[in-house]
Amino acid sequence: MSIKTTVIGTGYLGLTHAVCLADAGHDVLGLDVDDTKVAMAARGETPFFEPGLEELLRKNLEAGRLRFTTSFADAGAFGDVHFLCVGTPQAQGGQADLSYLYAAASALAPHLRKECLVVGKSTVPVGTARKVRDTVRELAPVAEGADLAWNPEFLREGRAVQDSLVPDRLVFGVTGDAAADRLRAVYAPQLAAGTPALVMDLETAELVKVSANAFLATKISFINVMAEVCEAAGADVIKLAEALGHDERIGRKFLSPGLGFGGGCLPKDIRAFGATAATLGVDSLVSLLDVVDTVNLGRRDRVTSLARQVVGGQVAGKRIAILGIAFKPDSDDIRDSPSLDIAERLAAEGASLSIHDPVAGPNAARKCPELTYARSVSEAVDGADLVLHLTEWADYRAIDPAALAEIVKQPVIIDARCALDAQMWREAGWVMHVLGRP
Ligand code: UGA
Repeated sequence: MSIKTTVIGTGYLGLTHAVCLADAGHDVLGLDVDDTKVAMAARGETPFFEPGLEELLRKNLEAGRLRFTTSFADAGAFGDVHFLCVGTPQAQGGQADLSYLYAAASALAPHLRKECLVVGKSTVPVGTARKVRDTVRELAPVAEGADLAWNPEFLREGRAVQDSLVPDRLVFGVTGDAAADRLRAVYAPQLAAGTPALVMDLETAELVKVSANAFLATKISFINVMAEVCEAAGADVIKLAEALGHDERIGRKFLSPGLGFGGGCLPKDIRAFGATAATLGVDSLVSLLDVVDTVNLGRRDRVTSLARQVVGGQVAGKRIAILGIAFKPDSDDIRDSPSLDIAERLAAEGASLSIHDPVAGPNAARKCPELTYARSVSEAVDGADLVLHLTEWADYRAIDPAALAEIVKQPVIIDARCALDAQMWREAGWVMHVLGRP
């Protein structure tokens, strides 16, 4: 059954959601207040790199199931289900900035003239959904006929399409059966394919999202603490992670040690959750998340100080090549990128940097135009005193270390993501430092 849906906000989350809803057969209208974004999407172009998304966008534009607008009046008149997918960035003080969310709800509500369901997907502090519901009820001409649900999203950048088409689970935060039934109809293809739908109250649904990200962040910081222990004890954190991961209660995923987490979600979400915990008076969560954040940021210090040590104490005047500037592979996102943070610190200390990334170079150059970017790995490492492997793109695992050794000044590399084949690099003549490994 095709449902008329609107998606408010066409960032990573919204655009992917709109495209995947259309691909499921729904009639979709995407809305953004930024007319450049809307024009791009309508032409079949995505403003960010996300494998598979542009193809699916074009396919659904051509099929006539997907359109874009900047008009809330159009959205209100069109949709039976409206998804709110706007950003909730970090405000000063760590808490979430909800201004875009309330602005979107307030702009949409006056145009809700028919019975409909408004569904929040943005990551929010617990208690927000009820306030959004009050806003919608206050402003919507249809009043009681505009119901509200919360349906958090768990997609990962770089795997957004797959995560949306085949999610692990669907979470429906609702205040009644009608909303849950309507969400089941929207997600009928996923449910038919076996994805479980978990129905709960609004507050629990909001909390599922932030606690999932807090748990993932905690898991990463835990393995990074173990990397420190392994280094101190002469043990191997990769072997440790592998052995831990075989315990089904633990699992191997999100136990990759190295430089820690960055991006537009985990860092801001644990800080916002910490701020919520403080408001709720749950001090134990404040302390836990504080440690997770501190351990995570400590990894950047660790790599920076190892770089200094490896080049003889000071990076000033040394040529350092950086492989990978995106916050993770398969993404051109540089928000809170651990790699970019390290690059800025080394540059501030006087290092001469040359940065390569398969796709994120232009974004990094816009944010940090003072740094130097290379078009190829060979160009980046040419004459380098040290190579830093900071984002584990598959391209870098395919490098021939023997060929690279010919171009650098010193064949010395720090693998901060524990992702390269250390034996192969050492056999090719490299001095290789891997965090957490002997
Ligand atoms: C994260 C969550 O994984 C998604 O489920 C969630 O929907 C999303 O945030 C969100 O809230 O919107 P994402 O930020 O795209 O997704 O990236 P992740 O794959 O979670 O990676 C986050 C960071 O952790 C990256 O910097 C990555 O390099 C790092 N990481 C990940 C590790 O250091 N070790 C690991 O084992 C895994």
